[in-house]
Amino acid sequence: MIDTHSIITPAIMYWGTPVTMITTENEEGTANIGPISSAWWLGHRCVLGLASMSQTTINLLRTHQCVINLPSDDMARYINPIAKTTGALDVPPVKQALGYEHCNDKFRLSGLTLRASDLVQPPRIAECPVQMEAELMSSLELMQDLLDRKGVLLAIEVKILRTHVRNDLRLAHHANRIDPDRWRPLIMSFQEFYGLAPAKVTESKLATINEDKYRVLTRSDVIKQGGDMDRVDSGEAACTN
Ligand SMILES: Cc1cc2nc3c(=O)[nH]c(=O)nc-3n(C[C@H](O)[C@H](O)[C@H](O)COP(=O)(O)O)c2cc1C
Repeated sequence: MIDTHSIITPAIMYWGTPVTMITTENEEGTANIGPISSAWWLGHRCVLGLASMSQTTINLLRTHQCVINLPSDDMARYINPIAKTTGALDVPPVKQALGYEHCNDKFRLSGLTLRASDLVQPPRIAECPVQMEAELMSSLELMQDLLDRKGVLLAIEVKILRTHVRNDLRLAHHANRIDPDRWRPLIMSFQEFYGLAPAKVTESKLATINEDKYRVLTRSDVIKQGGDMDRVDSGEAACTN
């Protein structure tokens, strides 16, 4: 039988995830942007995979606040100018070796526009169709089994307090839903940029589940959470516009 697979040892495991642009506040009160593609969501929690040396990480651990901005697949032109830059004044040797340079104003360098947030200090990125204001909940050091690498990477859990979406992405006749046919995330796969296929590849059995059934994961019966989750009883109840 012909062997259809080979064994390889890739240096990176970037199989394709949405690009996020994390805004945080620097110590002197200015804003930083960290382009990050290690991000996933369950309930209203997001887990970010971050290098501990990044200015984004330093700011997030100090202020406990960030905004997770999601660019669409036509926005790579804003990301390329700030790729291979860091808001950290001293560029760590590891990043120097990769060609990184310091940038103290990534909004200016990228051409992106600041927009004030409602609940957190870091600004949103006006051009991003999705902007999630978030608060730090916990962080976990990765590679704890390796004495010399422990904590170089962190998994950081944040709680989404408020979600802003561009109106054209909303599913018609629903207060709190996204139309996935319209949302075109920018995907990073093995350092290159892609978009999604233009339409659904097939029908989805999972999509027969009513989205509101997942709200059990966004609520607490005993704790007030501080963001918009507390105000939403059912998906349709929170329609304000
Ligand atoms: C498309 C893209 C995706 C990236 N994904 C990640 C990531 O998931 N985690 C990470 O730590 N760095 C990631 N980086 C690298 C960071 O952007 C880089 O460390 C940067 O210096 C962070 O900026 P800061 O030091 O100002 O926070 C990515 C960069 C780009 C351009």
